[in-house]
Formats: sequence, C-alpha cells, structure tokens
Amino acid sequence: MTRIPHEPSGEPNPLRALTLDRLRCRTSTKWRTYPDDVLPLWVAEMDVPLAEPVVRAVTDALELGDTGYPAGTAYAEALASFADERWGWGGLAVERTAIVPDVMLGVVEMIRLVTGPGDPVVVNPPVYPPFFQFVGHMDRQVVEAPLGPDGRLDLGVLRDTFRRAVSGGHRAAYLLCSPHNPTGAVHTAAELAEVAALAARYGVRVVADEIHAPVVAGARFVPYLSVPGGEGGLSLMSASKGWNLAGLKAGLAVAGPAAAADLARLPEEVGHGPSHVGVIAHTAALREGTAWLDALLAGLDDNRRLLTGLLAERLPAIAHRPGEATYLAWLDCRALDLGDDPADVFLRRGRVALSSGLPIGTGGAGRVRLNLATSPEIIEEGVRRMAAALR
Ligand SMILES: Cc1ncc(COP(=O)(O)O)c(C=O)c1O
Repeated sequence: MTRIPHEPSGEPNPLRALTLDRLRCRTSTKWRTYPDDVLPLWVAEMDVPLAEPVVRAVTDALELGDTGYPAGTAYAEALASFADERWGWGGLAVERTAIVPDVMLGVVEMIRLVTGPGDPVVVNPPVYPPFFQFVGHMDRQVVEAPLGPDGRLDLGVLRDTFRRAVSGGHRAAYLLCSPHNPTGAVHTAAELAEVAALAARYGVRVVADEIHAPVVAGARFVPYLSVPGGEGGLSLMSASKGWNLAGLKAGLAVAGPAAAADLARLPEEVGHGPSHVGVIAHTAALREGTAWLDALLAGLDDNRRLLTGLLAERLPAIAHRPGEATYLAWLDCRALDLGDDPADVFLRRGRVALSSGLPIGTGGAGRVRLNLATSPEIIEEGVRRMAAALR
C-alpha cells in the first residue's frame, strides 16, 4: 500500500495517494459491485489510505492480539475533546454516551427508545436512502418533509409535518441529517434552534445523524445538542465518514441532558455489537487524526472547485450547487432529458457509476449523487465519461 509520507509542515493530500490500479485491488462494495471497466463514483467510501495514527493504533492492537470485546470510555472522551476543539462545544458528557455498532444501527436503537411500532418518523428528502430502509424495517412509518428548492430545511413544511405526525396521539421522531446528505447543507444555529422549538411544541423527539460533522469546510458545524432546546435530542456520531472507517464498525450515541433517561434504557446487548478494533480506530482518528482530516478537507475543497469547473465546461446543462459539507455532490440532470434515472444512462453508456437519485425520496428523480473523495484525475475521467454518455 502507498503510505503517506508525513511531513513536519503538514500532511499531504490523502486523495492523491492511491492510483486507480491500487484502488481496483480493494474488495469493498465501491470497487466490487461493478465490472472493472466501470469507474465507481458512487457509495460513500473514500479513495484514501488511512491516517497514520489509525494504522498505528490498529496495527498495535493486532500485534498484541488486542481483539476482544470493547471496554471503557476512550472513544467518548476522544469525541468530547474533538467536539470541544473543533466546534467549541464543551457539552458532550461522557456519561451520556453509549457505544453502538454503527450510525445506522444507532439510529434504529434511538428511534426504538422514543417511539413504538407504527409510529411516524419524519425525514427530509432528498436524503440518504437507508433512512427509508431502516425506518421501514423497524416497523415505523416514514413521513416526508421535503427540503426546500435550495437544498436546505424548509421549516414551514417541517412544522406542518410535525403537526400531522403527532395527530391521533402518535409518538413521533424526527431523523435529522446534519450535515445533510446529499445536498451538503450545514444547518445553521438559527435553523437548528427553530427545529428544537418546533420539536418541543409538537412533542416530536429529535434523533440527529451527525456522521458527516467532521467533513465540513467553509461553514460552521453546530451540534444539534448544543442549541437552545436541543437538550432533549439524541445524536449519533462516528469517525466513520471523516476517516473512512466504515469497515471498522463503531459509533457513538450521545444524549442531551433531557434525554439521558432515554439513553439509560438502551439494552445492554446493543453494546455487544461494535468492534473493539473499530473503537480503537475511531478513538485514534478523533484523538490524533486532525492534521490528516485538515489535509483531506483541503483536498475536497480543490475537488469541489474542479468539479464545478468541469461541469460548467463539459456538462453545462447539469445544475449543481457545491455543498458546504460531506464529500458528495448532488447533481440535477433534469435538463439533460435522461428520464428519472440518469445514473442508469451514465452507467450503461458512459461506464461511470454514480448513485441514483431515485431511492433518495421526493426530489430525487432526474438527479445523481457523485462521490468527490477521490483523486482529481479520477474526477476528470468521471466527468469525461458522463459527457461521453450523452454523445
Ligand atoms: C447520513 C449517513 N448516515 C449514516 C451512514 C452510514 O453510517 P454507518 O456505516 O456508521 O452506519 C452514512 C454513510 O454514508 C451516511 O451518509
């Protein structure tokens, strides 16, 4: 594997470290779902080598045979320090956290704590497709409160949806995606305070998926639990997206002060799901991986600018508003007249795999999601293939 040379003056861009040939040796879903003539720019995996502190921590654990069950609060402590330094939020209390297998299973457990079978769960489409799948699988009703045309929360729609969701005496939850996948919107403190006020007014419980929180540049991430009224919320956090650790399973559930009693009801067996090696990896990332993260964010900024320029030049009919967070670009292809599923056309005719907008809910038809966490060369090749699909 190509190792990133560590320089005293800063980290090199991890997005430039691996060649396409090396990446094609990977066995994960991004690289094995499609044949080798397809360029994969879809699922949220990053084309980076791991941060050196993560490699070191995991290697040390393997050499020691430290591969038992997780114990202790090191992960939560590392997240609390990271949150304080990065977001100026000193309110993450280790005693109000619980280790969960990953963010989506954590979401499921939090929703289970605050709702019952058949109860509504409000989501903001277009949104990460597993929100629909996991909520449906746990026998709750998905209720849509679509984002506005600017890709941000529409608080009027949210208010009306909350009102409908609790009618008939239901216990409702709101699954907030913060920052938002796929639009890359970073919700402001004012927006989140308004969410908290609406949640209090209608008795809706907020479960915030904050997995993309470390991947924010050019905006200020505001933890939901830090806003006035956010005390009754439950948040899911993880180093998984920021440091590409999806294969090293571990996430953290964090309760606001007014939700501590709910989190205390989390069944003990949920804590059996995360991987001890995963916990070690996530802890190392949060504790020692900030220089690497900053280099990643700088590389992602370059990639965002590159993509904007390439689309303007090669595919000007695609509408694109660069996001403030995540490494995903949300592309409106409706003017190309490729039907509801342009991803299918780009795949068949261009041999480039993008995520289809269709499973992403209302507002997804005619759109695709492109993964920017790769090298500039691969982005250029991806856009070349998209353009070739239209000839
Ligand atoms: C918003 C969001 N939540 C959750 C996940 C998945 O997280 P995990 O693998 O920890 O369940 C992703 C993955 O891309 C995501 O974008």
